[in-house]
Parts: sequence; structure tokens; C-alpha cells
Amino acid sequence: MIELNNNRQSFRHDVLIIGGGAAGLSLALRLGPNIKIAVIAKGRENTGSTYYAQGGISAVLRPDDSFESHIADTMNAGNGLCDKKAVQFTVEHGPENIHWLADLGVPFTTDTHKDGSKSYHLTREGGHSHRRVIHAADSTGRALETTLINHAKHNKDIELFDHHLAIDLITGNKQGLEHNRCIGAYVLNKAKGRVETFQARCVILATGGANKVYLYTSNPDSSTGDGIAMAWRAGCRVANMEFMQFHPTCLYHPKAKTFLLTEALRGEGGKLLLPNGKRFMDQFDPRGELAPRDIVARAIDHEMKRLGAECVYLDISHKSAAFITSHFPMIYEKCKEYGFDITKEPVPVVPAAHYTCGGVMTDLNGHTDIENLYAIGETSFTGLHGANRMASNSLLECLVFAESAANDIKTKLTEKYQWDKIQKWDESRVTDSDEEVVVSHNWDELRRFMWDYVGIVRTDKRLQRAKRRVDLLLSEINDYYGNFRITGDLLELRNLAVVADLIIRCAMERKESRGLHYTLDYPETDDSKPAANTVLKP
Ligand code: FAD
Ligand code: SIN
Repeated sequence: MIELNNNRQSFRHDVLIIGGGAAGLSLALRLGPNIKIAVIAKGRENTGSTYYAQGGISAVLRPDDSFESHIADTMNAGNGLCDKKAVQFTVEHGPENIHWLADLGVPFTTDTHKDGSKSYHLTREGGHSHRRVIHAADSTGRALETTLINHAKHNKDIELFDHHLAIDLITGNKQGLEHNRCIGAYVLNKAKGRVETFQARCVILATGGANKVYLYTSNPDSSTGDGIAMAWRAGCRVANMEFMQFHPTCLYHPKAKTFLLTEALRGEGGKLLLPNGKRFMDQFDPRGELAPRDIVARAIDHEMKRLGAECVYLDISHKSAAFITSHFPMIYEKCKEYGFDITKEPVPVVPAAHYTCGGVMTDLNGHTDIENLYAIGETSFTGLHGANRMASNSLLECLVFAESAANDIKTKLTEKYQWDKIQKWDESRVTDSDEEVVVSHNWDELRRFMWDYVGIVRTDKRLQRAKRRVDLLLSEINDYYGNFRITGDLLELRNLAVVADLIIRCAMERKESRGLHYTLDYPETDDSKPAANTVLKP
């Protein structure tokens, strides 16, 4: 991204968007002319998860598919906790959002038919009863993100601020004002090492997920749950944080840093095998390898523990090499770098933390509990995913809620507005830290105990252990935060600790197993009363 302002330390825009992934950039592009927009992000276009998305975007795009079917599949994957209104809203706005992306120039993969005509190639993933996942080979996210960012770079109303990390939201309450609306954010300019003030009439959290809270994750380093933690500190409700999704198939290799092997590999016939070469998914679910993700990840975890195995295997080598290399060119190359030829042999895989189903509670316009504050994309909780997100519904949610939030914001901006005076960031009482090791140690400790105690299979005892540790870390980190000058690592650690606490608290409240939350102490789903979300209030 280009940084346009070199010397200013305070900024005023109509709209401040925190996050430059699918959600944030789509919103910026949807806002239309003559609205001054700032998009801040931690780094370049590949800092968020969007850039790494592989499988694609789900939408009803063929006459033999239907909204009813997409809605039913989503609700089924969500294990009784999806909000039907949110599901319907998202699914019904799917096709128009795909056409919007195609018009912007996203190069979706097409099939050429015998008569020379072309149509989009749609793949399948777990939980979908139809082929409805549109994609750009196996690098859908890269195609999407680069298209959006190119449009944003050439839009005169959008300013892109790279290497900027939002610290906290500025609200009326915190500033001692009469009204409690959101009026901006304090932001660390990492390149300049100073805190800047961004003031705006509407503020949008589009900061992605919190999956870095686990030791092993498919996500990039930016997924530290900053938006969820900031909204929580500002007074917003947060829901369903116990439903952290583990992707079943990440490459098992010491140097691969949990590289994802898309579910579309299984959608196109890939099989899961035990170390002895036997298939096993049929014993867990009649849909086999294409059961929803919670079921597949748990089955793999179960088999690995049962056999004491370090991994299971994913095999697509029965398909032709031409098919594999044309549909999965990036994965083919990447696996080769690590010494595996997917056209000839099975590859070792393990589950890893992948997606945050819970988040900041919003309505169908992405609006949160605080006036003029919105949350969209993975940061938000809209009710779409329930207890388990269905594959490729995430990018869809980013697009649909970016559009509805943009429409709401445009209306809001027509109202009269009085800018408030904002206090500058105060650093007068802090010094430079002489113990950075505290930060790196706490990062490691947090991610490890979350993996060990709050992972795919939980128990009351493990959750209590994790809670004791997170309480201690929270107090240590707050102490450190109050005394030392901030750094990016410290801010992210502070947010991770808040999010870890929210995950543990939600998990402790749910006395049943449902979707992604599985506990040995309550292994059954409680059908004796209506399913309810876990809602936490600050
Ligand atoms: P992100 O794309 O994660 O962007 C977050 C942005 O916020 C980044 O720009 C980041 O720099 C910025 N940011 C974060 N914190 C701050 C802060 N404090 N200050 C300033 N900026 C901040 N979903 C699908 O639907 N289909 C798929 O095929 C698919 N494949 C996936 C493959 C992988 C490997 C991964 C990791 C995820 C995949 N997902 C997929 C999930 C999907 O990619 C994400 O849920 C989605 O991209 C999230 O988009 P977002 O805009 O909400 O956040
Ligand atoms: C994948 O390609 O397997 C990821 C899809 C998703 O997370 O929706």
C-alpha cells in the first residue's frame, strides 16, 4: 500500500476502515464517490488471511442449485446455532457480489465447453450439497486481494496507510464526552514509531480473525484478534468465541509453517488415509471426506491420538497429473518445494486453527453496540456460521456485509455532524522497555497452552487450567502495557490475551458439545432446550 501522508500525526476522514482484507477493501470500494476514506493495515496486501484463501467463494450460480439448498447446507453445518435471517440475507446477496467481483476483474477459473462457450468452474467443499464454490484456481484469495487493492490504489477518495496498527478505539465515554459514539482510533505508525490519531465519523473494524492465539494455525501473523479485543475494551458485546475452527488438512512438515491444503482437494476426490494407507472417514460420517470441517478435524485428531501417529495423509494421486496441476498449481508447486509430488503420492496432513466463528456482535448492516462503529468480515459475529462455518462462506460474508455496511454508512453520512475535540495520545508516564523477553515469552506460553488446553477436544479441567494461566498473563501484560512504550508485538500480545480469555470464558459457559466445541465432560449436544449463543458483555 502507498503511504500518502508523511508528516501529519492526526487525520480526519469521513470513514476509517481498520483492515485491508476482503471485508475492508470491499467496503471502501462500495462507499462511492466524494466520501473521504482511510484504510489502515498492518502491512502490505498479504498481511491478512484474504490473500491466502484457496478454495473459493460460495454462491448459488447454477440453475440446478438454489438459495434454499445453500441456506439448508449452511444451517446444517452450523449445528442448530445459525441465525436464519443472517443466513438467508448472506446467501441471497451472494450472486450479485460475485458479479461485482467479476466486473472488477477477478480472474475466476472458467470451463470451456464443446461449443466454445465458457462458464465458471465451480468446485465442491465439505458440507455443500452442490458445486457452488467459485475460485481462481487454488489462489482465489491472491486474485481477490490484488484486484481489490489495485482498484483502491487508483481511487482518489481512498487513502491507504500501510504499517499502521490500530491500538484502541476512541469513544465518547473514554474522552469524557456526553455521547458514547465511536469517533476514531489511536494508531501506531510502525514505520515512524509514533502514535497517530485518526478521527472519523464512522469507524469499521475489519481486522480478520484471532487464530494466532493457537500454536499451530493456517493464518498469517496478523490474525491476532485486534478488532475483537478493541471492541470488547470499548464496551461491545462479543459472542460464540468457543467456536474456533480447525482446518483438517494443513501440510505436516517442520518448515511448512502449517501450509493449507484446500478442502477443494477433497471436493475433487482427495481421500484421507491412515499411515497404513486405509481410508477412515466413512466410519465417522456417511459424507466421508466431505463431511463438515468440525467432524473431519475431530476424526483426524481422534485417529492420530488412537494410533499415536504424528499425522494422517491426503491422497489425490489417483487423478490425472494434468487435472491436478491445472486445478491446484500453487499447491502442487509448494508441496514440491517440501519434497512431495501430489500427482504421485499422498502428503502428510494435520489439523490447525483456521477460522474464528465468533466475534463482535452486529446486525445485518454490520453495526455494533456502539454508535458509528461497525464490524465486518471475520472479526464480526453476524449469526451466519453458528457452531461451525461451512467452507467458503467466509469470503462471501465479507463481501455481503461490506455492501450492507456501506449502504448504511452512506445514509448516516447525510446527517449533520459535529466533530469532537480529541485528546492526544499520552506517553508522558512510560519508558522504553529493557525486558522485551517478557513479551516474546508470553506470546509463546499463551499460544501453547491454548493449543494444549483449549484445542479440538476440551475438558472442564483443561479449561480451568487455561483460565488460571490467562488471568495471570492478563495482569502481567496490563502491568507491562502501563509502564513501557508500546511496540507492535506488545499490542498484539495484549489483544491475544484478551481474545484467549474470551474463548476460554465462552467455552466454560457451554455445558454441551456442539459443532466446533467438543468437551469430554459433556460429549452430547443438549437438545433439551433451544440452542443459544454464548454472549459476553463487558
Ligand atoms: P483479513 O483478510 O484477515 O484482513 C485483516 C486485515 O486487517 C489485514 O489487512 C490486517 O493487516 C489488518 N489488521 C489486523 N489488525 C489490525 C490492526 N490492529 N490495525 C490495523 N490493521 C489491522 N474463506 C473462504 O471463504 N474461502 C476460502 O477459500 C478460504 N481459504 C482460506 C485459506 C487460508 C490459508 C486462510 C488463512 C483462510 C481462508 N479462508 C477462506 C478464510 C478467509 O480467508 C478469511 O476469513 C477472510 O479472508 C477474512 O477477511 P477479512 O477481510 O475479515 O480479514
Ligand atoms: C480451503 O480452501 O480449504 C479453505 C476454505 C475455507 O476456509 O472456507
